[in-house]
Amino acid sequence: MAKILLIDDDSEFLDMLNLLMRRSGHQTILSADGPDGLVKAKADPPDLAIVDVMMPDMTGYEVVRKLRADPSTASLPIIILTARGQPVDRQAALDAGADEYMSKPVTMAELAERVEELLGKPVSARPTLLKGAFVMLSLRGGVGVTTLAANLAVMLAQAGDRAACLLDLCSSSGHAALQLGLRPEPNWSDLVGVGGIDAGAVDAHLLQHGSGLQVLASPVFPVVGPQGVSRPIAQAMLRALQQEFSIVVVDAPSVLDEAAMAAVEMALAVVLVVTVESPSIQTALGTLRALKRWLPKCYTVINQVSPGAQLPAEAIERTLKRPVIGMIPFDPAQAQALAQGAPQAVRDPASPLAQGVQQLAQNLVQVVGKSLAGS
Ligand SMILES: Nc1ncnc2c1ncn2[C@@H]1O[C@H](COP(=O)(O)OP(=O)(O)O)[C@@H](O)[C@H]1O
Ligand SMILES: [Mg+2]
Repeated sequence: MAKILLIDDDSEFLDMLNLLMRRSGHQTILSADGPDGLVKAKADPPDLAIVDVMMPDMTGYEVVRKLRADPSTASLPIIILTARGQPVDRQAALDAGADEYMSKPVTMAELAERVEELLGKPVSARPTLLKGAFVMLSLRGGVGVTTLAANLAVMLAQAGDRAACLLDLCSSSGHAALQLGLRPEPNWSDLVGVGGIDAGAVDAHLLQHGSGLQVLASPVFPVVGPQGVSRPIAQAMLRALQQEFSIVVVDAPSVLDEAAMAAVEMALAVVLVVTVESPSIQTALGTLRALKRWLPKCYTVINQVSPGAQLPAEAIERTLKRPVIGMIPFDPAQAQALAQGAPQAVRDPASPLAQGVQQLAQNLVQVVGKSLAGS
């Protein structure tokens, strides 16, 4: 059973919606206008909202924008209902931040179906209004940075066209592409020599994954000469990708080189990947000290790369003094996923790793949304 907020000034239609939702086993909160609906949403945050567009005091678009701007309802699933069915109306609804747009008359069966669909969808598979980069980082190698970045990007990309991409900033080996079973050709090494790195140039160097994810890969063979990607080039690549995609997931190198620092500076969130062993926790502590200017946007995720007992998240949180926003269990099938070049998010969404990354995605979208709404 979910709690559903219904906002419509047409009282007959509101009654019908109410009946429909109650028949589907849900609890309802009814409101005849936007301002009242917003007050009710704040007082008792619902699990989903259905909002009419044409209302006298405040349009449905305005209601959706206000719901999105409030941390308690920022990631609320919202369906906009309207009497107008033009493509511009649909775009206006999506721009305002609605998940779904339906034009009246709608059949009640269709509406009920959409409601269940949205309630069942994880946050990561719904459009987000967030725009920017999530940087996955660990200065200790082998803790699963690439694995988590690839799986997270695949999941976020499922929210829609250009919802997310993956950028491999490690200076060689094309590991992110290989995790996805892609040959890292082309890759950013061809961009580095080019004068202007813009959206068009970057676009031409993206790899297409079967899941819909697009990847800017690193080269398999190390670039000889100065290590890594320079700061201006990393910035230009990130800027170009951010223009084209809502979220850029960055597989950061295991050093704080120029590329890593450019990504950290520009990021919406930096996710430190740690394993439950003292060298990894020590490294994370040192990394957080080095990144102290950006501490408010640093989060941690615990990844269990080997089987065995887990330390409680609270103990790690106390040591690192940053929130643990994900716990990824050991996944015995990950070795096979890697060998097949098929991430668990695609191969087996019910696997421990995919489920863990799903939860991470959800928490990440939520904490970042809240911190933006609060700033
Ligand atoms: N949750 C997990 N369960 C099992 N194996 C994992 C898990 N996360 C990562 N691995 C494995 O750990 C190894 C290191 O992962 P990788 O993503 O390459 O680390 P990094 O990018 O930090 O060097 C890989 O063999 C990967 O398949
Ligand atoms: Mg890696």
